[in-house]
Amino acid sequence: MEELKRWNKVHNLTAIKEDRQIVLRHFLDSLSLCLCLEEKGIEVDGLSVCDVGSGAGFPGVPLKIYYGDRIDLTLVEAVAKKCSFLEYLKIKLGVDYRVLCKEAQKVQESFDLVVSRALGKIDKILPLLKRLSKSYVLVIKGSEIPEGYDYCKIDLPDVKGYILFLAKTR
Ligand SMILES: C[S@@+](CC[C@H](N)C(=O)[O-])C[C@H]1O[C@@H](n2cnc3c(N)ncnc32)[C@H](O)[C@@H]1O
Repeated sequence: MEELKRWNKVHNLTAIKEDRQIVLRHFLDSLSLCLCLEEKGIEVDGLSVCDVGSGAGFPGVPLKIYYGDRIDLTLVEAVAKKCSFLEYLKIKLGVDYRVLCKEAQKVQESFDLVVSRALGKIDKILPLLKRLSKSYVLVIKGSEIPEGYDYCKIDLPDVKGYILFLAKTR
């Protein structure tokens, strides 16, 4: 959180500036994915995970801090200054992940689990996320899920919202 606040003064990485709000709206919101994975019975050990449009590292970095070596994380981010922050953070926190500094449309790999938050409208981003995924796509949504999609409802005292859940059939 301190690094996010320090870089934010120069690089404007997030509009959320107050400590409690950073914890709730960035860290806990990101970690709500863990609840959804548990609810859906997904075993995370050994999964390759990709966070698309990671920005300042949400939700990918809190997931990596939480799961550690259990997951293999890749962050995809198109904007160079955000990639620089993510690379710096990796060294500073001593956590291991890969940053692909390019548009997700140009990524030519696939991952077991693809996650994303605030990347764009569901109809527009889902084809892209599905293309990058071998098995699952989870999208953090603040508001309700469009009809026809499976989801997890997060209803914690300070964190509420929906996570769109998609399991790809092979
Ligand atoms: C609104 S921000 C959300 C950042 C972060 N996921 C979060 O929830 O705090 C969207 C991010 O996605 C990145 N982005 C948008 N389109 C992208 C694309 N096609 N490929 C990779 N990154 C993209 C933007 O540069 C930006 O950092």
